[in-house]
Amino acid sequence: MSDSPKPTKTGGLAGVNAGETAICTVGKEGYGLSYRGYTIEDLAARAGFEEVAYLLLHGHLPTRSQLTSYRTLLAESRGLPDPLKTALELLPADTHPMDVLRTGCSVLGCLEPERGLTRESAIAAGNRLLAAFPSMLLYWYHFTRDGQRIETQTDDPNIAAHFLHLLLGKPAPESHVRAMDVSLVLYAEHEFNASTFTVRVITSTLADFHSAIVGGIGALRGPLHGGANEAAMDLIDLYRTPDEAEQGLLGKLARKELIMGFGHRVYKKADPRSAIIQEKSRKLAEAAGDQVIYPVSERIDAVMRREKGMFTNLDFYSASAYRFLGIPTPMFTPIFVISRISGWTAHAIEQRERNRLIRPAADYTGPELREFVEIGKRG
Ligand code: COA
Repeated sequence: MSDSPKPTKTGGLAGVNAGETAICTVGKEGYGLSYRGYTIEDLAARAGFEEVAYLLLHGHLPTRSQLTSYRTLLAESRGLPDPLKTALELLPADTHPMDVLRTGCSVLGCLEPERGLTRESAIAAGNRLLAAFPSMLLYWYHFTRDGQRIETQTDDPNIAAHFLHLLLGKPAPESHVRAMDVSLVLYAEHEFNASTFTVRVITSTLADFHSAIVGGIGALRGPLHGGANEAAMDLIDLYRTPDEAEQGLLGKLARKELIMGFGHRVYKKADPRSAIIQEKSRKLAEAAGDQVIYPVSERIDAVMRREKGMFTNLDFYSASAYRFLGIPTPMFTPIFVISRISGWTAHAIEQRERNRLIRPAADYTGPELREFVEIGKRG
C-alpha cells in the first residue's frame, strides 16, 4: 500500500542481541559459521547430516555406535500414521508444499502430541519430524499428482537418500545423495534467524513443540527468509544466456528490485555456506552437461558483485544444485524445513532449559490519550 510506513534502518531488531545461545555462531569473525564449535567447512566436508543433527541436539558429535543407533531410529520413524495420510490426501494438488509441511506437522502434533514439555520429549518429537517430513511431502506429492499411495518406510541409509528415492521413484546416484546431504548440513542451523526466533518465542510461552515448529515453518516460507531459494530459481529461469541475464539484471537493478539469493542481515563480506554449495552446483552442472543454468547463475553473481558489491547467500546456488538433482522448484524451501528442524529442535530445548517469556517492549508512535466519542457524535 502506498501509504504504509517505509521500513526504517533501525527496525527489524538489526544488531540487537535477543538472548544467549551455545548452539551456533554466525558472522563472528565477519564471515564465519560454526555449529557447537565446529566450522561449517569441516562439517560439510567431513560429517553427514544425521551426524550434524545429533551434534545440534546433544551438544557433542556421536560415537560410531551412537550414530548407527541414531540412523536406525530415524530410519524406523519414516512411516506415516493412516489419519495423517488421509489428511495429506485431502490437500489440493496446487497447495504450496510449505503449507503441506505446516499442515502435516500440525496433524502429527494431534496424533502424536508431545507429552511433558521436557528435553526428552522435544528430542523425540524433533527426531520424529526429521524422519517424517520427507515422507509427508512426497506422499502428498505422488498422491496428488497421479493417485499413487507410496510406501514411505524405506531402508535408505540416510535422509538425503530417502528424500531423493521417494521423489524420483528410484535410488539416486551416490554423487547426488552426497550433494543433497551437504545441502542439508548447510541449512541445519543459523542462530537467531527469523524462523528460529519464532520457534523460541512460541516455546517461551510453554506451548508444545509442534506449535513452535508450525510457527517456524510459517516464518520460513517468506521470500526474505527461506523462500529465497525458490525465488532465486525463478530469477535464473528467466534467462537463456549469460548476456540475457546481464541485461535483465541491469534493468532490475535500475528499477531497484530486490535480487533474491543476495545479501544478508549478519554476514558483511560473504556467506560461508555459499562457496560450498556453489562448488556442488558447479560439479553437478558439469556432470549434467548444463550450458544454461550454471553459466546464467555465475553471470548474475558477477553482475551483483560488480554493480552492488553484493554476494550470494546460501539460497542462490542451492537453487541450481537442486535443479540438477531433479527437485521441483516448489520443494526447495521444504528442503530447508527438512534440514532446519534439527536446529529448531536444539533451540526449543535451549529455550526451555533457561526459559523466560520472550516479550519485548515497543516505542509508541500513536496518538496522545484522547476522549472517547459516542458513535452518533463522530464526524
Ligand atoms: N538485492 C538488491 N538490493 C539489496 C538486496 C538484494 N538482494 N539486499 C539488500 N539490498 C539493498 C537494500 O535495498 C538496501 O539498499 P538501500 O540502502 O539503498 O536502501 C541495502 O542493500 C541494505 O539492505 P537492507 O534491506 O537494510 O538489509 P536487511 O539486513 O534488512 O535485509 C535481507 C537482509 C536478506 C532480507 C536482504 O538482503 C534481502 O532481501 N535479500 C534478498 C532475499 C534473500 O536472499 N533472503 C535470504 C537471506 S539468507
